[in-house]
Amino acid sequence: MSAARHAVFGQPIAHSQSPRIHAAFGAAEGIAVDYRAIEVAPDGFAAALEAFAADGGVGANVTLPHKQAAFALCSSTTSRAQRAGAVNTLLRKGDRWHGDNTDGAGLVRDLTGRHGLDLRGRRVLLLGAGGAARGVAPALLDAGILEMVVVNRTPEKADALVDAMGEPGRVTSQYWDDLRNQGDFELIVNATSSARQGGAFNLPLSLVNSMTTAVDLNYGDAAIPFLAWARAASCRNSVDGLGMLVEQAAESFQQWHGVRPQTDAVYAMLRERDAVLVGAD
Ligand code: ATR
Repeated sequence: MSAARHAVFGQPIAHSQSPRIHAAFGAAEGIAVDYRAIEVAPDGFAAALEAFAADGGVGANVTLPHKQAAFALCSSTTSRAQRAGAVNTLLRKGDRWHGDNTDGAGLVRDLTGRHGLDLRGRRVLLLGAGGAARGVAPALLDAGILEMVVVNRTPEKADALVDAMGEPGRVTSQYWDDLRNQGDFELIVNATSSARQGGAFNLPLSLVNSMTTAVDLNYGDAAIPFLAWARAASCRNSVDGLGMLVEQAAESFQQWHGVRPQTDAVYAMLRERDAVLVGAD
């Protein structure tokens, strides 16, 4: 029997680790995997997805810049995808697409499982309010954090994220220039893409306490500036986005194949290759 067809859609897509990750999961679990990368521009995304389905595609991942478009194309979505306003996992149901967002669950799984953090009752600072931030915010709230402060270069987008979470009081927005008046945080999440444009980080040291974990949703070179700041600021832990990448893939794999794969070996394989990895998936 030939393998069910899966793919990741994005632009650019050549850097994507997803085909490698899903192939490794399949090999370890004894499940035949046919998972390829499909590069497509935004104006061709809907047609490419339909062509994929017509050709037997039953599931897909979606990455930049198509996550919001994928959400709009779905006939049904999970509540976490609705709060994120974005979909990274598609599952074919009959002749329609069902959409989920596994990014936030992947982050929480990495932080709690791999890094042993207890997120309950923690103050969280979320830097950025774009697609990556929207993807992880619902899962952090669901993990039982006390409070989330959202800061973004464009304040209106931070306000929109706060509104989308639907928990005023627990989730608030602040101005970047006002960060030194926000107290300290046990978790600081960099969900901006500024390092991909060569940006540096200069955040107030007052944000850090003796327990602070700094996590960058990027990995490889794109995670270097923020994590360099975190180390200089004596954050207790600094975590890049590689573990989240593997865990969100495992969540998608489970939805398609009914088995949650072991992730440690794949994580170790990618960590060895970390020096050549770029960006976010
Ligand atoms: P992604 O899907 O990676 O989140 P995105 O939706 O384009 O991509 O969001 C990029 C995020 O990085 C936004 O929060 C953006 O801030 P703006 O909303 O003000 O654009 C943030 N960002 C990008 N470049 C930045 C920079 N040089 N300094 C600060 N924030 C930056």
